[in-house]
Amino acid sequence: MKTSSARDQVAAATTPVIYGEASITPRGDYAQAHADYTCDQHWERYTPAEHALFARLYARQMALVPGRACEEFLHALGHLAAADGIPRFADITLRLRAATGWEIVAVPGLIPEHAFFRLLSSRRFPVTVWLRKPEEFDYIVEPDLFHDLFGHVPLLFEPAFADYMQAFGAGGLKAEGLDALQYLARLYWYTVEFGLIRSAQGLRIYGAGILSSGGEVEYSLHSPKPRRLPFDVPRLLRSRYRIDDYQATYFVIDSFAQLFDATAPDFTPLYLRAASQPDIAPGTVLPGEHDIAPDAGAS
Ligand code: PHE
Ligand code: FE
Repeated sequence: MKTSSARDQVAAATTPVIYGEASITPRGDYAQAHADYTCDQHWERYTPAEHALFARLYARQMALVPGRACEEFLHALGHLAAADGIPRFADITLRLRAATGWEIVAVPGLIPEHAFFRLLSSRRFPVTVWLRKPEEFDYIVEPDLFHDLFGHVPLLFEPAFADYMQAFGAGGLKAEGLDALQYLARLYWYTVEFGLIRSAQGLRIYGAGILSSGGEVEYSLHSPKPRRLPFDVPRLLRSRYRIDDYQATYFVIDSFAQLFDATAPDFTPLYLRAASQPDIAPGTVLPGEHDIAPDAGAS
């Protein structure tokens, strides 16, 4: 899930801006959405070809993630029951509600930041109803059903991560009032979308943008090209990111409890400090920073 900042605009009449760094016109039928941007999934409308495409995407990722995604993600994949085609969101919600109190709700596509944060802060995760086209099998610029569902939903079954996502929603609403969304967007990007975790078994992936990608799963863990730096909130708030290529920098957490605890304090002074310091370009290593080795386990 990424958001559009075209606040309160239901139709795709203007070109919204994703996190201030890219311009695309979102697909999707916004005329059918409610005021909170949720809509019906209309599961009965998916065609056999769409179910088959989803199953192919699912099978490709399933072959990639064992030993590379974190255990919590792998364990929760079974709850999706999505190997044979597009699942009904309501079925997943039944299991998710029992596990962590989260629900998944259908949305037409990218939604405004404010609506997105409101949903997260009430433990509702928006999943796009439409699936990419066959020619977008390897690469899609905009989050679709497969990215949102396969990438994001499994970790909502993990209690500490589930709490982090709710806190993120509340933090987003607060950051809006502080004019600090560009900083919080970086935190979302480098954790929820592209986060790595140092587990007892070694370096693993928990970020949805990596886990739903055919190529970045292997690259993020083993390529010598990107930096892999320890998770550090003030550093991360200053770090710009790439939207058009594999990441040049990943940040590595030690546990979901660390992620939750390190982001719990009031960010107001951190936003002020970030605004007074220069941004850090993707791939930069600052003096005193050291890469985490790709095969590093938790100490
Ligand atoms: N603690 C942050 C604040 O005060 C909110 C937040 C929590 C942001 C968790 C991201 C993740 O603004
Ligand atoms: Fe996403």
